[in-house]
This record gives sequence, C-alpha cells and structure tokens, in this order.
Amino acid sequence: MRLLEDSRGARYRQNVAPPDARNPIELPSRGLIDMHNHLLPGIDDGCNHVDESLACVRELIQAGYAGAVCTPHGGPRLAPLNTPQRISEVLAVLRSAIEAEGLHFPLLPGCELSLTPDLLAWVQEQGVQALGVEGDARARRGGAVLFDYWGSAWTKDCDAFLDYLLGLELTPVLAHPERMNIHDGWLSLLARLGERGVRLQGNLRPLVGKDGLLAQYRAEQLLDLDRYEYMALDAHHLGCLPLRLEGARRLRAGWGRKRSKQLLETAPRRLLALGQSLAGASDPTRAS
Ligand SMILES: [Fe+2]
Repeated sequence: MRLLEDSRGARYRQNVAPPDARNPIELPSRGLIDMHNHLLPGIDDGCNHVDESLACVRELIQAGYAGAVCTPHGGPRLAPLNTPQRISEVLAVLRSAIEAEGLHFPLLPGCELSLTPDLLAWVQEQGVQALGVEGDARARRGGAVLFDYWGSAWTKDCDAFLDYLLGLELTPVLAHPERMNIHDGWLSLLARLGERGVRLQGNLRPLVGKDGLLAQYRAEQLLDLDRYEYMALDAHHLGCLPLRLEGARRLRAGWGRKRSKQLLETAPRRLLALGQSLAGASDPTRAS
C-alpha cells in the first residue's frame, strides 16, 4: 500500500483503530458535508499520500466543511482492489492521521463505483460499499450507493446493476450526470432513472465552466429543474480544490443561500441517514 511508504506513514500506523460498524462515526449536525472526493491516500487517482490528504482536509475546514464521505473509485476495471474491507482500512489510517494532527474532521466510508458490464459480478463477489456505511452494506439493507457511468448509451447491464441494488433496498446515486457521454435522450433517461429511485449527485466544478460548456449548461439546467439530490466537490488533489470551491460560491450566488445549504448540508445528511450512520436521523424524502 503506497501510503505506508510515506515518510509519515509509520507514525500513523501505530494509531489505526479497526472500523467498528456498531459505533459509526457521526458527522457534526452543522456545516458543509462533502459527499464525493478522492481524499483517501494512495488507492486511486486521488491524493497520493497522507500529507496531501491532510492538506486537502485543512483546505476543506477553511472553506467551512465539517466532514466528508470518502469515495475512492471502485469496480473491476478501474480499481479492483477497492473493496469495502480495503476502504475501511485506508480510512482508518487517514482518520488516525487527522487525529494526530489535532484536527477535527470526521470521515465516513464510501465509494464511487464505475458502472461497467462486469460491475454487477464484481460487487456480488466483493460486497457493496455504501455511503457512510462501514463494511458491506448488503447486510444492512439500507444505504445509498454512488456510481458513475461513462458509456454512450444506457444498456441492460446498467439496469441489471440497478435491479441488484434496489433488490437489496439500497438507493442508487448517479454521480455527476451533467458529465455523461449520453447525448440523445439524456434528460428523459434521467427522468426514467428517477422514476426507478435513482438519485442524482451534481459536481460543483461544472458551474465554473471548467468541464466544458455542455456540462455547465446541463448542471445549470438540472439545478433549475431541481433535479439534484445534492452536490459535491469530487476533489482529487489539493491543486484542484480552489476551482471546485469556486463552484460552491457560484451555486450560492446563482441559486441562493437556502438552496445551497439544502444541497451541501441538509440533503447529504438526509441521504446518509439511509445507511443509519446518523443516529436518530430520518429520511423525509422516503416518507411517502
Ligand atoms: Fe469521483
């Protein structure tokens, strides 16, 4: 594991506590929650080592974030080693490093599953990492599961993956639909997925225009239509954070403080309640 080769890794390793699914870490009741990022060191194309993760955490605290759900890539093609077990182990290392630095920034486990035709077989074998749920969420029968999709058409394999999650009472969450490669019928596809119970997570950076005009137009359209369940940074490295945080400012300026708070604070906590990580919390959006 690359992070253990980091110059400061040895110190952190001594304090790593095993994950405890019975006593989930709780997020503060106030403050921004980032629900999509690649802060975990050395396990995908995100932060390369613990020091870089810590630098990102300091930047997030400075920007008003109170905690985050770490969502490294997962799936048989992009990140086959990132099983729920491995994510828990690396998360424990970063939690320990944050504590050793005297910082308060709770982190919860998550994953961004890359939807490919062989993803279903992979999760059936390796388990399902849900947002805010320690370990395999299949035993929990509750929780939200983040996935992204880069195909140019929606296929039967995609629906089969959704069927599997929904059959386990897990809630699928499609990451950054504004960046999808599907063009014909994109909006009607999102409507159909919504009818199936798929929720949408928007990225903040497209609002700055750095992901192309189409992604910006789509992000603004989905905001105008109130289609996003929540929005997130999807940060990979320290250097990319300023633009993504600028996206949060654009959200506030363009759609108002109330809406911004809903998308960056209230809705993330509500979604995490599906995995029962927030004790006593409920999910009003599922009440009827
Ligand atoms: Fe991501």
